[in-house]
Amino acid sequence: MKAEMVIHKDYEIGKIDKRIYGSFIEHLGRAVYSGIYEPGHETADEYGFRKDVLQLVRQLDVPIVRYPGGNFVSGYQWEDGTGDRSKRPRRTECAWKTIETNEVGIDEFQEWAKRAGTEVMMAVNLGTRGAQDAKNLLEYCNLSCDSEYANRRKANGFETPFKIKTWCLGNEMDGPWQIGHKTAEEYGRLAEETAKLMKLTDPSIELVACGSSHYNMPTFGEWEMTVLDHVYSHVDYVSLHQYYGNPKDQYEDFVGLSVHMDGFIKSVAAICDAIKAKKHSDKTMYLSFDEWNVWYHSNGAKFDDWQVAPPQLEDIYNFEDALLVGCMLMTLQNNCDRVKMACMAQLVNVIAPIMTEKGGRAWAQTIFYPYLYASLRGRGTVLKTIKHCPEYAAERAKLVPYLESSVIHDSENRKITVFAVNRAKAEDMEVTFSFEKFGDCVLTEHVQLYADDLKAVNTADCEAVSPRLLPVDAAPGAVQKVTLKQHSWNMLTYEY
Ligand code: AHR
Repeated sequence: MKAEMVIHKDYEIGKIDKRIYGSFIEHLGRAVYSGIYEPGHETADEYGFRKDVLQLVRQLDVPIVRYPGGNFVSGYQWEDGTGDRSKRPRRTECAWKTIETNEVGIDEFQEWAKRAGTEVMMAVNLGTRGAQDAKNLLEYCNLSCDSEYANRRKANGFETPFKIKTWCLGNEMDGPWQIGHKTAEEYGRLAEETAKLMKLTDPSIELVACGSSHYNMPTFGEWEMTVLDHVYSHVDYVSLHQYYGNPKDQYEDFVGLSVHMDGFIKSVAAICDAIKAKKHSDKTMYLSFDEWNVWYHSNGAKFDDWQVAPPQLEDIYNFEDALLVGCMLMTLQNNCDRVKMACMAQLVNVIAPIMTEKGGRAWAQTIFYPYLYASLRGRGTVLKTIKHCPEYAAERAKLVPYLESSVIHDSENRKITVFAVNRAKAEDMEVTFSFEKFGDCVLTEHVQLYADDLKAVNTADCEAVSPRLLPVDAAPGAVQKVTLKQHSWNMLTYEY
């Protein structure tokens, strides 16, 4: 199979906001307890945080982590997770039917975030609570004045405010499964008033309003229009969530789903622009894709109610999942003019790139690797390319190109990074790149993620899927040819 790409130096989509490589930790399953936090573990620090997990998180260079949920947040009383740990209540947590011990709350999590070298994206409960509680939490986290909640934080040992910049106004409030589910009108009004009060409390914050829980929600579109009509001038982002699965084992259809994700992003951007036009506004609404991933392997697993940290949503990812995750990251990069934040959901144990054994090892799942390279090397300006390659018809995404790609230009270091997936199951692809206005380019690095077996997985004992550095043909020229192996993920670095 052959493909061609024209890469022109001046055709820019936009500069990547590094926060598109964010992630998510929810009080769900073993994400917190025996994930990031396990006091008895041999690597635990003075707070009880696992240093082996921290090391993997730091390796990913995650810029922002959403917390504490997810569905969990819609029944959460944030005060439970502050102050003297010996006095914290054990609560029945109704979103996931577990016991929340509250050993970890915002006091500890912001300490973890510092150790992980990341920023916190905080969600407020708009399910069972409202504007006043959101304001109290914001005051607790961000203000240094002499007032009840700021003083509570100081009394708990934190003189300096946490300075959390990004706040989500609830979680998936369009979903009937959500505790405190609302109609678009109900949520729009509540989000508007909560946003006003929060920005009066701390005008330096940025706010994310809930969009749809996925593209196929029956209320999609109407929900965004109604909510944005209320909150347009008060918030900075609208959220998108989307998970994909391959329950019928249809490889081509599954790995093409990033095309469906692209359609979702473009549709939400169009709705935002329609509201902008209707309001005669100068403001562009940006998108926060703050939950995305593959999620289906763990579906159907049953757990007894009211356990502490049962192993919920522990998807073990295979190689084809890594291909789709790689393509989804390219889709986020190619939409960097609108998507300013995104969170791979989640980070540890729960539908996550990092897995742990309780009391044992931590390891990288297959999806860790495309995430790692995108985060480390996908920083710079995304270029809009002209691509010619064969396409195929699929069920969920309709028309899918065999070649998925994104091109990132780092003008300071005179480097062009190409991320590319050859989706063809059983055919290598020869790609011809024509570089325009760069002069001669030279391929200096080719990293490949490949497994013969699409269902290969990584375990604590065996890393079946890991990146390989391929030998490169370093002949300079404005036209370059490279072969992408059948069903492989690739990162190519060209210098000029
Ligand atoms: O990430 C798992 C769950 O998926 C989150 O709690 C919820 O927001 C979404 O439905």
